[in-house]
Amino acid sequence: TRKIIMDCDPGHDDAIAMILAAVQPDLEILGITTVSGNAEIEKTTMNALKVCDLVSLTDVVVSKGASEPLVRIRETAPGIHGDSGLDGPEMPEPSRSWSKEHGSDTIIRLLKESDEPVTILPTGPLTNIALALTKAPEIKDNIEEIVLMGGGTFGNWTPTAEFNIWADPEAAKKVFDSGIPTVVMGLDITHQAQATEEVIDQVNKIDNHVAKIVGELLAFFRSTYKEMFDFDGAPVHDVLTVAYCVAPELFETKDVNIAVETKGEFTAGTTLIDLHGVTGRKVNAKFGIGLDVEGFWKLMMKALKKY
Ligand code: BDR
Ligand code: CA
Repeated sequence: TRKIIMDCDPGHDDAIAMILAAVQPDLEILGITTVSGNAEIEKTTMNALKVCDLVSLTDVVVSKGASEPLVRIRETAPGIHGDSGLDGPEMPEPSRSWSKEHGSDTIIRLLKESDEPVTILPTGPLTNIALALTKAPEIKDNIEEIVLMGGGTFGNWTPTAEFNIWADPEAAKKVFDSGIPTVVMGLDITHQAQATEEVIDQVNKIDNHVAKIVGELLAFFRSTYKEMFDFDGAPVHDVLTVAYCVAPELFETKDVNIAVETKGEFTAGTTLIDLHGVTGRKVNAKFGIGLDVEGFWKLMMKALKKY
């Protein structure tokens, strides 16, 4: 089994990533840390706790992390995820509160306590990871891999920047420059995994409560993607990080250098993905380029049927 920490900002796709992870026999979720991103930190943390109740992750620590990016002004994404960050389904108030420990301290503690290297799955802005690396640089040795959702060769929040990287470019730079083995699920690959009407129909045919909630999450997510981007389906970005950990054979990746623009007049938060090795900069990431789309949805349906 692979030990993982999920650092997230639920978020429809973050929530579905948790739902997929919770039933994987090959994954052990050590902790869930939250960050401000899709919505303010209290909201993303409440959402994480609600999803934990839904999938019986009630023993897993949930810690509230950074409420603001490292240096920039916070901006959230209600146009995509609704005001709560997880609009759509009705979900009961959480059965417990978040931990008193800051998310970045939970990351440090869990890494230090683990006898085996741990994989971190960041699916929001990278603020908590950057804070943890700044406070305790020695944790690098305990990280097996970072499998993150962010960036791409094009943008969705600005013409060139993806939301998670754009929201905290200074934090992203810290992570990409850290030397830790990093796998990047950017927009190039996440846009291949779109929850279309057919996919949502398939989910709705699965007769259990979790699948019903996922159907509602996807229906809401699809409607905002239609409205904002005129997409036919909602890309389930964050879910790919979990899928990669359990079924890497579904993914084609390329070893590249990725640099993060922190200064540009128009381009802050852009990831410069050197697909053709033109910069001469050292490889620092595996970048997702191809997905077995059918295999991916099979994995998802199989997981939902377990509930
Ligand atoms: C990313 O931004 C958020 O809206 C999603 O949860 C995902 O992590 C996609 O750009
Ligand atoms: Ca997210």
